[in-house]
Amino acid sequence: MRGLFITFEGIDGAGKSTHIEPMAAQLRAAGHAVHVTREPGGTPLAERLRELLLHEPMDALTEALLVFAARRDHVQQVIEPALARGDMVLCDRFTDATFAYQGAGRGFDREVLKTLESWVHAQLQPDLTFWFDLSAEQAAQRLAAARTPDRFEQQDTAFFQRVREGYRARAEAFPLRFVRIDASADRDAVGRQVFAALEDRRW
Ligand code: TYD
Repeated sequence: MRGLFITFEGIDGAGKSTHIEPMAAQLRAAGHAVHVTREPGGTPLAERLRELLLHEPMDALTEALLVFAARRDHVQQVIEPALARGDMVLCDRFTDATFAYQGAGRGFDREVLKTLESWVHAQLQPDLTFWFDLSAEQAAQRLAAARTPDRFEQQDTAFFQRVREGYRARAEAFPLRFVRIDASADRDAVGRQVFAALEDRRW
């Protein structure tokens, strides 16, 4: 049987990455083979493209082409083979991030993004997407306390407000696969929301 593809999304600072490993551990304990990965990245080539994307100046089309180039390699080398083996794949960001960041955040043409999506993964869509939703102001406060910012983390609050609205639009367009997590709660409460959503699916 084909495996399940679960993605984790949200603006920078929303805290999604913290919850991926605990979920993987819970699914492994329930007997699933689980592969944890991330975008951009997940293969040697895609990780190199990630470095360029996060640190070199470029326009929105170049960003979109780089994330989809990285995604192409990742889908072919890692995600599709894992799903074909029957594994569960937990992926930190996927194409919803491109619609939110390059589409809503940068204001780039969504029709072009849809075309690129159809070239890169025409058949593949996540089975479940956790959207860690937090206001841009709260996310900025959390990020200020953290590490050296990359090209995206340096953007202003207005950029992240647009990205958040981009995620909201995706969640409205795909209500069956999106689960909104209130990421303003404390870490344990957020974790409980994630586990509850997973329990609902009875995987
Ligand atoms: P992120 O998950 O935030 O990594 P980390 O937590 O290690 O900083 O992802 C890196 C950045 O890449 C993030 O700011 C959003 C951006 N990004 C896009 O702009 N488009 C995309 O399609 C993807 C997958 C990520």
